[in-house]
Amino acid sequence: MIRPLIAGNWKMNLDHVEAVHLIQQLGVLLRATAHDNVDVVVTPPSVDLRTVSSLIDADRLPISLAAQHVSCFDAGAYTGEISVAMLKRLAVKYVLVGHSERRQLFHMDNDTVAATFDAVRRGGLTPILCVGESAEVRECGEHEAFVTDQIRSAIGAASDGELVIAYEPIWAIGTGVTAETAQIAEMAAVLRHALPASVRDLTPVIYGGSLRASNAAEIARYGAVNGFLVGGASLKAPEFAEIVGAANDCYGRTR
Ligand code: PGA
Repeated sequence: MIRPLIAGNWKMNLDHVEAVHLIQQLGVLLRATAHDNVDVVVTPPSVDLRTVSSLIDADRLPISLAAQHVSCFDAGAYTGEISVAMLKRLAVKYVLVGHSERRQLFHMDNDTVAATFDAVRRGGLTPILCVGESAEVRECGEHEAFVTDQIRSAIGAASDGELVIAYEPIWAIGTGVTAETAQIAEMAAVLRHALPASVRDLTPVIYGGSLRASNAAEIARYGAVNGFLVGGASLKAPEFAEIVGAANDCYGRTR
């Protein structure tokens, strides 16, 4: 039984004061929103992690913490980087690895993704490995081979341990264009097949890309993915709580 996951990716939004507001609002809304069938995760900017972590702990909020990025190195002379051990001290549980914005805008290649994936796992945190094709790759009909390669090159021969796969087609991120349920289902099957057999049936595959309260239920109900990675809509507590509630309802019924 795979436990679904609803993760909000705040990207480079909200300073630590704004982060306090959002997490407190979310805490209040989650008290009134059934969420026991899903894990709720937020992914604030690194400088907000300490504050958000303290609030989750102090108010016993039913929210887990993820980081948006981490260094592939353990420690040392790497100016500007943050280590897995530092995240662990802040009670971070998950780390996004290889988000398409990092791949495209910050030149994170498959080798660095693999090294980061390995560092996260060695450090005892759970990687959320982000994969997804561009519109050009899909037009050429190479999307299945492309994401299979992204998965295999990141995971290598690692055959155990927790991980999450986030399927995020680049053409759907921040565009308002959500992938169709049939496309999501097709790609989720491809991704699952690309995983080592030992983790294939244990690993959550989640969807991200213009996920909104208005389309969450339809995609969750289709049953091909085990939750969502939500960007823009996670910055509004009411909409994010609505997504959590809709997913909770759908996943509760499909049990
Ligand atoms: P979006 O972002 O929901 O704003 O499209 C998703 C993501 O990049 O994780």
